[in-house]
Amino acid sequence: MVNVGVLASGRGSNFRAIMEHQRLGVLENVNLPVLIYNYPDAPVKQIAEKYHVTNHFVDHKSRDRVEFERQIMDILESSQVELVCLAGWDRIVGSDFFRKYRWKVMNIHPALLPSFGWKGLNARFVHEAALEYGVKITGCTVYFVDVSVEKGPIILQRPVQVLESERTMFDKKREDAIQSLSDRVLIHEHRTYSKAIQLYADGRLKIEEVPSRAEETRVNRVVSVDLQGDWEKKWNQRQRIFIEQQKTEWASRMAETFEESN
Ligand code: GRF
Repeated sequence: MVNVGVLASGRGSNFRAIMEHQRLGVLENVNLPVLIYNYPDAPVKQIAEKYHVTNHFVDHKSRDRVEFERQIMDILESSQVELVCLAGWDRIVGSDFFRKYRWKVMNIHPALLPSFGWKGLNARFVHEAALEYGVKITGCTVYFVDVSVEKGPIILQRPVQVLESERTMFDKKREDAIQSLSDRVLIHEHRTYSKAIQLYADGRLKIEEVPSRAEETRVNRVVSVDLQGDWEKKWNQRQRIFIEQQKTEWASRMAETFEESN
């Protein structure tokens, strides 16, 4: 059993999706004992309560980063957490944290890294930049966090096509276009993050060092993902139940939005 600790700062939809994967039995041999959040009124707290997950508020404002991370590490340790998942976490991971959880911290980014990594930790700005740039394809990336913020080794990526209608909308109704793209990428974030967690729990992720061509002395780290056998087929079969539920939820959310705007 792998204990996964989640760190989240806000809305918590990725945390919720991970919890649903566990509740529905899609995630196997994965336990989620603890959520840590860093804003007292973060909505993610309510989600943790709904799923009866122990949650801790750790205030980044009242201490320096070293102290802040020490407190987080203490909580994670007392919950026997092996894998840490950042899900909409708006703090940068420091070197002590990285050393302790080397290649055991994952994050999700709402674009295909390395594109739009430099747009920071706020999803809205990432989608705005993708639309502004005029990319035809964007998506999401799950990666192992190192101290470089968004340059850690990539685990999984899921492409999402930018719609022509979003590009035209971007000129006149900027926020609507950003929202539309963000919603469509989010659907895949919710599926991809749990897949990466399951691959980790099944021991199918390996960090490999490859010499970097750019600088002789440096190495690049890449993640090899072992999909041998029928792992992916079985995963897709199990995840079907989550996808069906997700479809129903998104349909009713869209219906509500439609009602509101009429
Ligand atoms: C997601 O788009 C994620 O990729 C990014 O921040 C957003 C968090 O959303 N890092 P949520 O809090 O999980 O709903």
